[in-house]
Amino acid sequence: MVMRNEVLIVIPTFNEKENIAKLIKKIRDFKIDADILVVDDNSPDGTGKIADQISKSDKGVFILHRKEKTGLGRAYVAGFKWGIENGYKKLISMDADFSHPVEALEKLINLCNSKTVVIGSRYTKGGKITGWKWPRYVNSWGANLVTRTLLQIKAKDATAGFKCYPVEFLKAINLDKIQASGYAFQVEMPLLAQDNGFRLVETPITFADRISGESKISGELMKSAKIVFKLAAGKKSYRQFVKFAIVGAINTVVDWAIFYPISIVWLKSPGTLSAQSIKQISKAISFIFAAASSYFMNRAWTFRSKDKAIAKQAGKFFVVALGGLIINQIAFYGATAILNWRSIFGLIAATAAATLWNFFLNKVWTFKN
Ligand code: GDD
Ligand code: MN
Repeated sequence: MVMRNEVLIVIPTFNEKENIAKLIKKIRDFKIDADILVVDDNSPDGTGKIADQISKSDKGVFILHRKEKTGLGRAYVAGFKWGIENGYKKLISMDADFSHPVEALEKLINLCNSKTVVIGSRYTKGGKITGWKWPRYVNSWGANLVTRTLLQIKAKDATAGFKCYPVEFLKAINLDKIQASGYAFQVEMPLLAQDNGFRLVETPITFADRISGESKISGELMKSAKIVFKLAAGKKSYRQFVKFAIVGAINTVVDWAIFYPISIVWLKSPGTLSAQSIKQISKAISFIFAAASSYFMNRAWTFRSKDKAIAKQAGKFFVVALGGLIINQIAFYGATAILNWRSIFGLIAATAAATLWNFFLNKVWTFKN
């Protein structure tokens, strides 16, 4: 096949008969240096046939016919595979319904490079949405906020559908392992990009609601939300946090299992130390053992550290743990004595505060590699 362009615009379609021809014409009018691939899921309205017709006169327009509608994500995966096989360097995802402005294509292509995924962004400075009724706006804004927070996507528009991907990125990931079959594809991709060391860059766009045809997103919300939670659960930092909490729970038991026997036996045996001192010394001993055991468990399991300087690392761990202990005490005192919470809630709040402190400091300092 003779390739004319480095850029491929992938347009998935399902029932877009009023839009597809007009959109392709507009892209051609703008003289964008790009080929176009329409991925049609056997649209009942005949979109696929219209596209076939166009491809007869425009040699830069290709059609991928799929037998059935298996979702937006699957359509893109098929389109991107086709693009990789045919040697394109930059692949654009674009809606067929004029929501994604043809005017912004040039900018998207220019900002895209081997290390950068470009997002046509509604929520970055200068970005806009026109024509949406407020429920759809609230929906999108909420979905975007939840997604950004849960998945820690470093973009203002984490659910955007208008993007430019370098082929280097598409080759670096396994397209067959993409979990989202539907709209969640649009958040899984930027997540994969940043997890694989690619940069996300946003360029503002005005997203205009479609004039002809219908959106297919309604009814997909729950399905997409599920995928977002699944992706969150699979994130390394969440898995690490769960492991850290398990290690913490185990060693709380270790702490008690040392503290109670020592202090009980010691308190019964005759001596000169006061009960308070005995308890404090027992506490210090149990803390040291529990912290040491936490250190080794977190080293081997939670953070899988291979750092050779064990003494230095363990020292940091103890410093963090002491800080955690102080935070625990202050939080407990504040919650129970100042806010007058019941001790059980004080205990929960204090443990949570100390656990968060311990986790983040150990993550970014003790085990930073
Ligand atoms: N082949 C194929 N198969 N195409 C599909 C399918 C499918 O299952 N579902 C949707 N499409 C096509 C539509 O024909 C359209 O060209 C494009 O995908 C976007 O679908 P819309 O239904 O118009 O999406 P939307 O406007 O509600 O959502 C837009 O904004 C979302 C963020 O708010 C899209 O850009 C989404 O990708 C984006 O996440
Ligand atoms: Mn749309």
